[in-house]
Amino acid sequence: MAIKKKKISLNTIIREWILVNRYKKNEFPANFSYEWDEIHYNRMAVTNLLLSEMGITRYLEIGCAGNDLFDAVLADEKIGVDPRRGGTHRMTSDAFFSTYDGEAFDLVFIDGLHLYQQVRRDLDGALRVLKPGGWIAIHDMLPRDWLEEHVPQIRTRGWTGDGWKVAFELLACPDVEFRMLAIDHGVVVVKPLRDSPVIPDLSATLRDERFGYLFHHFALLPVVGYHEAAAWITARRAQLGGDAPAATA
Ligand SMILES: C[S@@+](CC[C@H](N)C(=O)[O-])C[C@H]1O[C@@H](n2cnc3c(N)ncnc32)[C@H](O)[C@@H]1O
Repeated sequence: MAIKKKKISLNTIIREWILVNRYKKNEFPANFSYEWDEIHYNRMAVTNLLLSEMGITRYLEIGCAGNDLFDAVLADEKIGVDPRRGGTHRMTSDAFFSTYDGEAFDLVFIDGLHLYQQVRRDLDGALRVLKPGGWIAIHDMLPRDWLEEHVPQIRTRGWTGDGWKVAFELLACPDVEFRMLAIDHGVVVVKPLRDSPVIPDLSATLRDERFGYLFHHFALLPVVGYHEAAAWITARRAQLGGDAPAATA
C-alpha cells in the first residue's frame, strides 16, 4: 500500500531555497543516515515506558502543539505549557517555571523552542520541579544534517535546532546519567542521580558551534536504540530502589 506523505507548499519550497542560499557558507558536507520513519519507536513509546510502574504519576510537557504526545501520555495528572496551542497552560516555559509552585512531577518532557539557550533553561526549570526519582526527556536532539540543525531555522519540517548542545553539558555532569535514543529525531532521557544536580554551562565553547561539531564529537555521546534504552531504564530503577510511587494515606 502506498504511504501518503504530507505535501510541502510552493511558498515553503521557495522560502527554504532562499535561506539555503543565504546561509550556504554554513553548509556541512556529511550527514547521519537515520531514517526515522523506518525505526518503529517514538517519543510516545519512551514517555509511556518511563511512566510505567510508577504508581500515581504527574507529567509536565513543555511545547505541546497539536497535543499528539500530550494526549497519548498515560499519566494520571498532566500539565502542558505552550504559548500558542495545545496543553493546559497558555504561556512560555520561562513564565511557567518562574511562577510554578505546585506539586512536583515524575516526568518532564521538553519539546518547546528548539534553541540551545532555551532548551538549557527548560532543563534547569525541569530539574527544579522534578520529584526525587523522576525522569526528564528532551525531544529533537539529533539533527541529521546541517539544514535540520541550522539556527536561524531553514527547514520547515524536521527542524531540530541546536538543543543537541545540551547533551554535551549533560556529558560533563557527574550528577546525572543520560542516553540519547536514536529514534524519532532523537530523544534524550535524563536520570538525576541526586537532588538538584547542577549542569555545567559550556556555552562559551558551544554557543557558536554548528552541526559539524555534533558530527565530529558524536562518538562521545551515549547513543542507543530503543531496546538498549529500555534495559538501561529498568536497571536504573532497580539500582536506585525504583521510582518511588507517590505516598498514599
Ligand atoms: C515541536 S512542537 C511540540 C510537539 C509536541 N510536544 C508533540 O510531541 O506532539 C513545539 C511547540 O513548542 C511551542 N513553543 C515555542 N516556544 C515555546 C516556549 N518558549 N515555551 C513553551 N513552548 C514553546 C510551540 O508553540 C510549539 O507548539
